[in-house]
Amino acid sequence: MTDTIEIKKGLAGVTVDYTAVSKVNPDSNSLLYRGYPVHELAATQPFEAVAYLLWHGELPTDAELEAFRTRERSHRALDANVKQAIDLLPLEAHPMDVVRTAVSVIGACDPTTYDNSPESDLAKAERLFGKLPAIVAYDQRRRRGEEPIASRDDLDYSHNFLWVTFGQEPDATVAAAFNVSMIMYAEHSFNASTFTARVITSTMADLYSAVVGAIGALKGALHGGANEAVMHIFDEIGSADNVGPWLDEALAEKRKIMGFGHRVYKKGDSRVPTMKAALDTLVEHYDAHDLAALYDALETEFVGRKGIYPNLDYPSGPAYHLMGFDTLTFTPLFVAARIVGWTAHIVEQTASNALIRPLSAYNGPDERHIDGYVPDAAQRDAAERAEEAAV
Ligand code: COA
Repeated sequence: MTDTIEIKKGLAGVTVDYTAVSKVNPDSNSLLYRGYPVHELAATQPFEAVAYLLWHGELPTDAELEAFRTRERSHRALDANVKQAIDLLPLEAHPMDVVRTAVSVIGACDPTTYDNSPESDLAKAERLFGKLPAIVAYDQRRRRGEEPIASRDDLDYSHNFLWVTFGQEPDATVAAAFNVSMIMYAEHSFNASTFTARVITSTMADLYSAVVGAIGALKGALHGGANEAVMHIFDEIGSADNVGPWLDEALAEKRKIMGFGHRVYKKGDSRVPTMKAALDTLVEHYDAHDLAALYDALETEFVGRKGIYPNLDYPSGPAYHLMGFDTLTFTPLFVAARIVGWTAHIVEQTASNALIRPLSAYNGPDERHIDGYVPDAAQRDAAERAEEAAV
């Protein structure tokens, strides 16, 4: 039995709600955060100011930014129970599983978890924003057998993130590129993880549950996991000379080439030029011209053959690699940035909530019955009522 109805597989092309948080415009290849083009924000703002904008709708004044930065610094330390929970996980656990678990522990221990007011949810959003760098850094250092490093109150978000991860004050070029990557990853309308967060929020569950679900959705290689996957394919290819033969084989095997393609953008991802420019500064800084040659060769070859363009994960993966992050840490970096977009959407969903519950078309077996089953009186009545209603 198959219901005949048009199915929009993957919800492709379906508009499900309004949002004032961001606008993705595939025709002009542009992305606006609360009205501002994202490349203008990346060129002029620290990530903290962009987070404030996404949560509150306006860029902060100097005083508002300073007050937010003071609060952010106060959240940077990890509680002992979060560290203990992480330490219980095997070193082989994927860092996305570690981040997901850490957020879950923070939620379970927060006495305000069930207060879904905007004030409370924005306070939780700030706390997670402040703590995620420590979680990501703690786990990378743990896997490397290194001691954790305390955050530094004299450093801004990006400098401190790199400090707690590597124990060295970052070069200005590296911190600037990192800041750009965080801004680029912060928000992107109704992508799969944000939609997941909105679905969970729509049931009136708490913000932490929505974020944990969103982390699960982000992990997949078709979404945030692609930045990690890009580096794996770079490792497979090895060098620019090998791109042609590698691509012949990959396409013959009908493999998806990670870091290319997008559900919404079909003529190129609006965020790529800005992130590619940041990657170029890193290539110069680290004298990584072999990697740049591989990057260019794969892009030229794949776009030439398929007409499918790079997405943000394509320049971000190599950028994080050059900064010194483990490949497995790339998607958790995306979490640290996207926490802003997710939580802005959670607050927006709560403010004008409707349970998200779509329909499905049935294509299973026709109705059938258990041999020897005799309905009782209540079920006979219910069946009669159903028949009457159907007439
Ligand atoms: N490599 C190879 N082929 C790709 C491709 C890729 N990266 N992206 C799309 N295609 C092909 C599909 O195989 C399909 O070909 P077909 O019509 O012959 O079957 C066609 O292009 C349309 O792709 P489709 O998967 O329907 O597009 P989509 O909008 O559903 O997919 C993605 C979007 C992101 C899932 C897809 O481009 C992809 O898997 N990219 C790689 C993962 C990635 O980088 N994700 C991060 C996204 S920001």
